Amino acid sequence: MRPLLGVPLLVILLTVSFGHCNPRTNHSSGYELATKLIFDRATARMRNVWGLQRRIFMQLTDKGKSPLGGQVVNVKQEVDAETYRLLYELAANLSVVPVANLDDPLLRRRVQRMAKLQLQGLRPKDYEQAKDLLRQTHNFVSGPLVCLQEDCSAHGPLTMFPQIVNKNMRSKLYEELFSNWVAWRKAINEKETAKNTFIEYVRLLRIAATYNGHVTPSRTWYLNYDTENFQAELEAVLWEIMPLYRELHAYLRHEVQAAYPKADTKSDGAISAPIMDQILSQAWYPHQFFRTPHQGKQHQLPSVHRRLEEVLVTPVKINRKAAEFFESLGLNIMSDNFYDRFSRRMKDDEGGADCKSQVYYFPPDVALRYCPKLDYKKMMQIHGTMAELQYNLYKVQLPFGLDSEPCPGFGAALAETVVLASGTPRHLHHLHILLNDSLTEEQSLNRLFRMGVHTLIAVPQYFINDKFLVDVMDGRIGAKDYNCAYWDLQDKFAGVQPPSQRYNKDFDMDFKFYRGMNPETSNTKKFLAEILGFQFYRSFCLTSGQYKPGDPDFPLHNCDFYDSKEAGKKMRDMMQLGATRHWRDVMEIATGERKLTGRGILEYFAPLFTWLKERNKQLDIEPGWDADELCRKD
Ligand SMILES: *[C@@H]1O[C@H](CO)[C@@H](O)[C@H](O)[C@H]1NC(C)=O
Ligand SMILES: *[C@@H]1O[C@H](CO)[C@@H](O)[C@H](O)[C@H]1NC(C)=O
Ligand SMILES: *[C@@H]1O[C@H](CO)[C@@H](O)[C@H](O)[C@H]1NC(C)=O
Repeated sequence: MRPLLGVPLLVILLTVSFGHCNPRTNHSSGYELATKLIFDRATARMRNVWGLQRRIFMQLTDKGKSPLGGQVVNVKQEVDAETYRLLYELAANLSVVPVANLDDPLLRRRVQRMAKLQLQGLRPKDYEQAKDLLRQTHNFVSGPLVCLQEDCSAHGPLTMFPQIVNKNMRSKLYEELFSNWVAWRKAINEKETAKNTFIEYVRLLRIAATYNGHVTPSRTWYLNYDTENFQAELEAVLWEIMPLYRELHAYLRHEVQAAYPKADTKSDGAISAPIMDQILSQAWYPHQFFRTPHQGKQHQLPSVHRRLEEVLVTPVKINRKAAEFFESLGLNIMSDNFYDRFSRRMKDDEGGADCKSQVYYFPPDVALRYCPKLDYKKMMQIHGTMAELQYNLYKVQLPFGLDSEPCPGFGAALAETVVLASGTPRHLHHLHILLNDSLTEEQSLNRLFRMGVHTLIAVPQYFINDKFLVDVMDGRIGAKDYNCAYWDLQDKFAGVQPPSQRYNKDFDMDFKFYRGMNPETSNTKKFLAEILGFQFYRSFCLTSGQYKPGDPDFPLHNCDFYDSKEAGKKMRDMMQLGATRHWRDVMEIATGERKLTGRGILEYFAPLFTWLKERNKQLDIEPGWDADELCRKD
């Protein structure tokens, strides 16, 4: 159990406060005073951390001076180390507070939130090791580790992301996709490195769970979802959308035969993993090899790139437009002070492959460093970033400990709604980027198809990666069966199979699995953000009258709730609550529901679903799959 740092302080404080009490001692007020004092001290220390974060932001964006790379890294390490020490001590001090005796519900909630931790609950040595393991897994993905036959002597080894992913994206040869798929797995799991890293990491997660008193370790992995058997709820959503997934899967399998004849996709078979990776990574690729439903120039999506450059001209203008979306909803207005002092452009070489804009949080201020790229995808993404910024503006008003989203992925789900709305033809028309506020039926279907590939193929993968980790953690999958158990999940939930005979000595998880080992970027969070995002979108669209079920002029997939004060109120009400309430209470404000459901996704993609069913019938394609027995347990 955790060392009981808190006992002396609490005892002293209680003695002191009882001295001031009436003859009839009031226990709860005594405990409350003591607890508040713990929080006051912690908040004072947190202010130092925020101060450091402010310094990082200022240093990175200092105009004129050369970048202080080394110094920034040092300060970042200091932030991490001090945050860890603070949260660790605070949790220990709070773990002896008798929560039931606190009358103030907000204080109770604050204690409950901060008394239990994930990796940060580990003792210093274990915590360091956990971080080290996460650095290693990060290196599996982004380190230059892979030699692709002819390439290595000339250019040196490649990274999985972004180098091999980008290489694959342009490759029309199945042999190449296949050999790259094998080469990376071989490179990271030589001497079972990947597998052993994973095993060690799981060991530490289990230790963290024992400190929380969780008999089932996944309760700590799913900490702030605060739900008995949360995985069952995720799985139920997956089955809900499975009929749609199966139709899409069947259609894609048919298309694969045209794009990659050598991929050996039998008419009733599961899809080979390298091909499925390719389908997903090409969802955004302009010259993708997989055909969209309607061929022909007139059915192509109108190119928005040139108009976007003409209309929005600079990244600053895009930022202002995105900020205006939220202002139209009645959320915070970004002040000139914000643009002058707290909104800075990243240097051109700084964004990296992702070029993700970054949001900073150092109460009372929030800040933004934005990616200077100018394209359709970035335009949508900056709307998501602005959502995060808005959320932070509400969080700064809440006490430390409750100034966060109610569960991981909740903020990303809210962001997703605005990303969806900002990419609709209706909104692009509003921005004067498209001439028309709707597409032709064929174009519209092509658009839904690409969105569908992007979303529907990814969701089961988030689930599988998450379930694998959790099932290992809880002991439902034993160390001897890792690899074949992973392929069983791929078969059951995604219709994906290995490209060749694999064994339990292999370790075939994809690179997104490794990313998802970090709680900050977990697959749980991604899954939830996607599902809840569509649920929120549906409810904002209904509220604003921009989605009228049954009315072909107002389908969900072309809903832009821009300017809707009603939708804005719901968004604001949720953001303002921060973590003061259970996430189910907060989601209820918008959706009237307390559970995750696939309803948003199903209604959004309804026209695609209808089309796929008809088309598959015409082509005599049977949805569903039989996987080959391609993982041998011995
Ligand atoms: C004890 O004090 C708290 C806070 O001051 C107050 O809300 C509560 O009603 C008091 N309880 C009793 C039994 O006097
Ligand atoms: C926890 O309690 C110890 C002992 O009373 C105290 O020194 C420390 O500052 C407290 N830390 C936090 C973060 O509450
Ligand atoms: C806009 O789209 C609708 C539906 O496809 C079409 O009837 C109309 O002519 C289009 N308007 C313009 C200006 O292109």
